[in-house]
Amino acid sequence: MIFRCPICGEEFEEIGKSFVCKKNHLFDISSSGYVNLLPVHKANSKAPGDSEEMVSARRNFLSKGYYEPLMRGIIELISSRLPRSGIILDCGCGEGYYTAAMAEAFLERGANVYGVDISKTAVKKAAKRAKLVMEKTGNETVKQEENKSDKNKSDKSVEGRIDGKIKENAEEKIEERAEGRTEERIEKKFEGRTEEKNRGNPEGSVGEKTEGEIKVKAEEKHGEETVETVGTADFGSESFEVGDSGDVFFAVASVYDLPVNDESADVVTDVFSPLAISEYRRVLKNGGFFLYVVPGERHLIEMKSTLYDRPYENEFSMPDYDGFYYEKVEKISFPLIIEEKEDIMSLFNMTPYFWRTPREGVERLKGKSRLEDTAEFYIYLLRKSV
Ligand SMILES: C[S@@+](CC[C@H](N)C(=O)[O-])C[C@H]1O[C@@H](n2cnc3c(N)ncnc32)[C@H](O)[C@@H]1O
Repeated sequence: MIFRCPICGEEFEEIGKSFVCKKNHLFDISSSGYVNLLPVHKANSKAPGDSEEMVSARRNFLSKGYYEPLMRGIIELISSRLPRSGIILDCGCGEGYYTAAMAEAFLERGANVYGVDISKTAVKKAAKRAKLVMEKTGNETVKQEENKSDKNKSDKSVEGRIDGKIKENAEEKIEERAEGRTEERIEKKFEGRTEEKNRGNPEGSVGEKTEGEIKVKAEEKHGEETVETVGTADFGSESFEVGDSGDVFFAVASVYDLPVNDESADVVTDVFSPLAISEYRRVLKNGGFFLYVVPGERHLIEMKSTLYDRPYENEFSMPDYDGFYYEKVEKISFPLIIEEKEDIMSLFNMTPYFWRTPREGVERLKGKSRLEDTAEFYIYLLRKSV
């Protein structure tokens, strides 16, 4: 368990259906399998993060597999780097499409996969999606058996400790009741200058801009999907034994104040979510990997041409992140052909364009029954310096 108490920072123990810290702060695990670790006084609004509408739009769109090439790219990059029984923390996990894919890929190696998002609606959906994966992979049955035997062992201590915690929480009035890739070689040169600035990320995250030296090397062709390797470093891979059973955990929490133990994760992922680099550095083990996905230059350029009179391209950059070095940068692009009006609008609703598009632009998009666009992403794979 890598989650820790958001109030005092003490480690958690899982007792019955609750997480309890040494100072007796208790957080219930919801029936759908997540825990709310965002104390009310730390939430900036009643329902922080993505709204129900945005979360449902993302669920609808991603479930139809439109971004599957990206998902496969993420899994491939993690696969050779995750140690046996390794720990993955998906920050800003949303409704859990990528978290569930990681669980499905790595549970049998004994991986523990954690997802965190500030939106309770998103986390609830993510926990339910992961439960289905657990059932599909047989891990749910193993977990239930383990729970039964743990319960027999510790019934007495549960009784005593939970009594105390409930009392304390009532006194503190803390609401902690939670329900959870053209064969082609390209060389690009940039000029080693770093300029820190916020960068608008069409999928919702905020980052920094840098110009540095970079080589674009090998690419492999898989149908129409293009994956470029932008700068590589050697790394070792481990062999895995099949048969361990891992687990999936979710929490409502902010990435800027992660209720996660120091140096506890082997891999931290952030797919289009706000970038909390110092927290990611803190929670990663030395030598751990940080996988960060941002939109490429021409990501959704057709949609933007419909929405705006002057669509812009995203800028590519490789910021310097203190305490990290680049292991690899991969560019994934593929054609995105959407032939359902509903899916076009789902895609729109899950992007920040949803918030900042003039009405006429939205009306133009609504009039479309087919969208032929480009999906383009960069996956930055960084490694925490030892
Ligand atoms: C563009 S979505 C990406 C979701 C998911 N990674 C995906 O690609 O499907 C960004 C997510 O970040 C979450 N978010 C925004 N601010 C956050 C914060 N401070 N801490 C944690 N999550 C946050 C939102 O609720 C939303 O689910």
